[in-house]
Formats: sequence, structure tokens, C-alpha cells
Amino acid sequence: MSAHPERLTLALQKSGRLAERSLELVREAGLSVVKSANELFFRVENYPVDLLRVRDDDIPTLVGDNVADLGVIGLNVLAEQSHGSGQRAEIVMPLGFGRCDLKIAIPESMEYGGIAALTGRRIATSYPNLLRKFLEERDIAAEIVEMRGAVEVAPRLKLAHAICDVVSTGATLEANGLRAVETVLKSEAVLVRSPVAPADIVKHLLDIVVERFRGVTASRGAKYVMMNAPRAMLGRISEILPGADAPTVVPLVGHDEMVAVHAVCQESVFWETLEQLKAVGASAILVLPIEKML
Ligand code: PRP
Ligand code: ZN
Repeated sequence: MSAHPERLTLALQKSGRLAERSLELVREAGLSVVKSANELFFRVENYPVDLLRVRDDDIPTLVGDNVADLGVIGLNVLAEQSHGSGQRAEIVMPLGFGRCDLKIAIPESMEYGGIAALTGRRIATSYPNLLRKFLEERDIAAEIVEMRGAVEVAPRLKLAHAICDVVSTGATLEANGLRAVETVLKSEAVLVRSPVAPADIVKHLLDIVVERFRGVTASRGAKYVMMNAPRAMLGRISEILPGADAPTVVPLVGHDEMVAVHAVCQESVFWETLEQLKAVGASAILVLPIEKML
């Protein structure tokens, strides 16, 4: 049962990879977070929402068991735990941050001609379920050595020949003389919800919060682009604009052959894009950030 049946509870990682961006998402969604002396809870001032701050590994269970209504969690952690029985947290949407890969890595010195090189080897990991599935699907018989942390030191300690761990910048692998050879899972932060429908008062709030998260996520990276352009080049310009459907075209007084083009671009607008636009005759190009999108 939910901790506070009349309040919406959102589980977030307390510290680590996703912690800061998760809190940022909550704030950008208009929830004003009040830090409390309580380590476990943060309160939201302007809505009946509580933030439950926990270890990321606990989030799938807390949401699956409906202790929290929503949670922000790495797909890697969620997928690893989605094996056993019991109620499961359901994915609402990817959040576009916290990108990292679960990879198999081997010592620099080890030869590697392909995945068959792992046959009969010992692989240390904190992700035994995902690794087992990956190996089974490729018919590789290897031994999985389960470790809670510090997986990257296993080869040096002769505990294992290889490791399977999360890689983001690659600094940990490099510092330990390891190189990645296989990708087991591509991960990013996802929003999850409890499989149990909340009480009506909370349901309304949950829908609002989810839609705001969707808006924050969608507007991130999106840009509003304006320019003047030759009418004859409109087709080319729509092709160049990244992820823009149906730009708005406005006539320019006294210039029949020219128009103003306004478009929302869903993807990053790079300098190259602007240069291409200029090359087909666009001028006075403006790229503006979008704060909110609904
Ligand atoms: C992972 C992994 C490495 C590090 C890799 O741990 O176990 O230690 O991140 O990142 P890098 O490629 O940028 O060096 P994580 O921070 O996810 O900790 P956790 O598994 O204990 O939650
Ligand atoms: Zn963790």
C-alpha cells in the first residue's frame, strides 16, 4: 500500500549517476522541492507530493510494490531486476538522460577475435541476469561471478577473466587497463509507475506530473528556429531542419519571392545546419531555446 494514500510519492536515486538530473527534472516540472532534515524524504511545497530518496537498486521494488507511485531509474537496473516473479514497475517513458551502456570488457592484453573468445571464461558482474541472457542467446558457455561492486578490479585479482559492467565515460575501464568488447544493453533513465492504479485524488496529480515530465523531456534540446528564405527553397529548407514537421510560412510585406519560416526543431540544431540553410538562401536565422512545450 502507498505510504501516504492521499499524496503522490516519487522515488528518486539519493546519490549517484541519476540523482542530480532526476531532481532537476522534478524542479523543471514546476514542483518546488523543500529539503528536509529527513534523509529519506523531500517534500514538495506546492503540491501534495513526497520525494522518496533511496538507493537506485531499491527503486524497482518500491515502485513495483506500490510504496512509491512513480520512480526514476536506470533501464540497466530495472531490466536486471525484471526477471523474478512479483509485481513489476511499468515503464512510462525514457527520460533522455543518464545514458550509459552495460558492456563486457577484457584486459587490454587479452586477445579477442569475437564473442567465442569468452567461452569457458569467468566473467564478473553485478548484472548476472542480463549477462546470462546475453550469453545464452549467443550460445556462449561462460561462468558468471556475481559481485556487488568494484567489479573492475576482478581481472587484476584473478577472480575473473572479464567483467560486465556499466560504462559511461569509459574512465573506469581505462583506469583498470580494460577494454570494452561487447554491448549487452544500452541504457538511460526511465520513468516508471506502479502497476497498481492509485486512488482518484492521486491519479489526477499523477497524470499531471507525468505530462509535465513529458513536456520537460520533449522540450530539452528542442529549438525554435526563425529565418527569412526564398519561397522557391521551402522544400529544401524543410529537409534541412532537423525533426521539424510543417514549418509555419509567413509572407513578408513588399517581398513576394521571400517568406519568413518558423519551425520547432525536435533535435539539436548545429552550426552545420545553419550553414546549410544559408547556402540555400536563408538569412536572418535565429535559433531560440524552448522553455516549455505541451
Ligand atoms: C558504474 C560502474 C563503474 C562506473 C563507470 O557504477 O560500476 O564504476 O559507473 O563509469 P565511467 O565509464 O564513467 O567510468 P555506478 O556509478 O553506476 O554505481 P552503482 O552501480 O553502484 O550504482
Ligand atoms: Zn546502485
